[in-house]
Amino acid sequence: MTIDRLHLYNFKNYAEADLIFSPQLNVLVGNNGSGKTNLLDAIYSLSFTKGVISTADQHYIKEGENQLVVRGTFTKKQKVYELTLGLQTGQKKVFRENGQDYTKLSEHIGQYPAVFVLPDDVDLVKDGSESRRKFFDTLIAQLDKNYLENLMRYNHCLKQRNSLLKMFAESGRQDWVMIESYDDVLLATGQAIFQKRASFIEEFLEVFKHYYQMLVSDEAVNLRYASLLIEQDFKEGLLQSRGKDVALQRTSFGIHRDDFIFLLGDGDLKRLGSQGQQKSFVLAMKLAQLEILKSHKGFYPILLLDDVFDKLDSSRIAQLLKLFPTFGQVFLTDARPDRTLMLLDTVKLEKKIFTVDKGVISGYSQEKG
Ligand SMILES: Nc1ncnc2c1ncn2[C@@H]1O[C@H](COP(=O)(O)OP(=O)(O)OP(=O)(O)O)[C@@H](O)[C@H]1O
Ligand SMILES: [Mg+2]
Repeated sequence: MTIDRLHLYNFKNYAEADLIFSPQLNVLVGNNGSGKTNLLDAIYSLSFTKGVISTADQHYIKEGENQLVVRGTFTKKQKVYELTLGLQTGQKKVFRENGQDYTKLSEHIGQYPAVFVLPDDVDLVKDGSESRRKFFDTLIAQLDKNYLENLMRYNHCLKQRNSLLKMFAESGRQDWVMIESYDDVLLATGQAIFQKRASFIEEFLEVFKHYYQMLVSDEAVNLRYASLLIEQDFKEGLLQSRGKDVALQRTSFGIHRDDFIFLLGDGDLKRLGSQGQQKSFVLAMKLAQLEILKSHKGFYPILLLDDVFDKLDSSRIAQLLKLFPTFGQVFLTDARPDRTLMLLDTVKLEKKIFTVDKGVISGYSQEKG
């Protein structure tokens, strides 16, 4: 799949932009703060119905304006599609595929996949377990609608169970019949989520190790799924934790406590890994994500690489560049044009170089090098 054209109107620091992309490699160079990441986020927002950089949709509207438009023309399996995202202050977001609104925005997720590699991906190593669960949940949900449904039901039920546990503490009365009905839902959905995570991690690990090997030949890495359900039956665990749950006023057993352990050799990546090693680890995870989406969907998602050369040594950069021709469409940003152009000289792809300067873009094409 490729994005062939992009139109921006009042998107962050872009007043207006019309761009035609290379189906292979697109390079965005420009100073810090010029709008490179914003442009990748605009493409990502067509894929996911919202961007990743800012938390609130409103922050995407150019300062001092009250509406924005992002429109992209995509080619997917030889067919052309137009996606439009529109946002106006105080109004509901508009998202259209070929002029047609979606009934639910979630229907769009996974249809136009993109993988966004960002400098703060390394937070995945440092953060708590929640962001690692989110990484895998978002990926699995794009491949398996049942998984998403189970996850939504589980989380909803967990919230209700936790509120009830709080009420126990406040009222001094305990309604175990109600707890049991929640437990039934947690068991049914949680067991399915557990099994899916366990089998998915097997599939993921193989692809991930392959990419890590490609980037870094001489280091062993591993990824382990950690769940309370591995040690103890879910039902038994919920029953045994009841006393603890009442004391804590929340549910202490279940798949919401799962984690994914990142290992370098036999040790903890968070503790032992250098910045470059951690960056390579999460980069290999993102490339595995790309490959797995491709194998399930039958086409490559768009790959958005933001400042990926920073913190990688020249051998890792060279290895990454060697992989480019095996991917689909790639977007790459760098604040140092000379370095980028020199590095990309060896990459034999149809390239388009864009220079970004305070929200204004100029581009030129380069034939296969
Ligand atoms: N809503 C908005 N309206 C106008 N400008 C905005 C808005 N949101 C962000 N910006 C501007 O966008 C710029 C940041 O752009 P971006 O992060 O894309 O830069 P970059 O080229 O990726 O820089 P770097 O090389 O530092 O990563 C900032 O200067 C910021 O002020
Ligand atoms: Mg940036």
